[in-house]
Amino acid sequence: MTDKFTVRHYETIGSTNDEAWRLAREGAPHGLVIHADEQTAGRGRFSRSWFSPPGNLYMSIVLRPDMPPARMSELSFVAAIAVADTVAALLPKRLRPHLKWPNDVLVEGAKISGILLESDADIAILGIGLNVLEAPKSGAYQTTTIAANGGLASVDSARDILLARLAAGLGLWRRDGFAAVRDAWLVWSYPIGETIRVNASGAAREGKFAGLDETGALLLETEAGIERHVTGDVALRG
Ligand code: BTN
Repeated sequence: MTDKFTVRHYETIGSTNDEAWRLAREGAPHGLVIHADEQTAGRGRFSRSWFSPPGNLYMSIVLRPDMPPARMSELSFVAAIAVADTVAALLPKRLRPHLKWPNDVLVEGAKISGILLESDADIAILGIGLNVLEAPKSGAYQTTTIAANGGLASVDSARDILLARLAAGLGLWRRDGFAAVRDAWLVWSYPIGETIRVNASGAAREGKFAGLDETGALLLETEAGIERHVTGDVALRG
């Protein structure tokens, strides 16, 4: 199976993820990309809204990867690596993106992208937002853009680089499995042993980052032993 992408462009849309779901349910093929200049109802993880004015990249990709449904969550790591590769390619060489579990992409500690992976049986919709020109004013965390870091990109060139990196990542995932994806993810993430805080189910847990297990769950070393987290957010200790 090869990963060829076909882009369908919209000026304004509610949410590219919603449109991708609508078309997928009507039979849209693997690789259809819904790209909008702006969203009026952009969605983030945990039902948060996603700031979506013109100037940034908003796209959702219909994926039918022919993998067991239980492995679909691995795609969010494939996507995070593709976004990190793209951001690295667009920023000046002295700046390096970092990945924060499960799939936030940060530059100098500020969020530059968000990934929303939704799946049902054999379909996954991979929604990606990348701040090229406009940073949301979020009270909850710092945000940034490609332009604010001295990077140069049009939204369309960022999209095309990202789709090429995603095709490469999907190839790696199919060929070498999640272990290879996990190794690539760890290259961009915090080092093993770094102190991190996991906010899961309303409780904050602090410990040392101990890597990812074979399903992508975060491993946290605490005084009580290794904890395994499958959902939540990580905050770096400031
Ligand atoms: C997050 O909470 O970090 C994930 C944000 C995902 C935003 C993207 S923008 C394109 C796609 N359409 C949406 O409605 N959401 C995703």
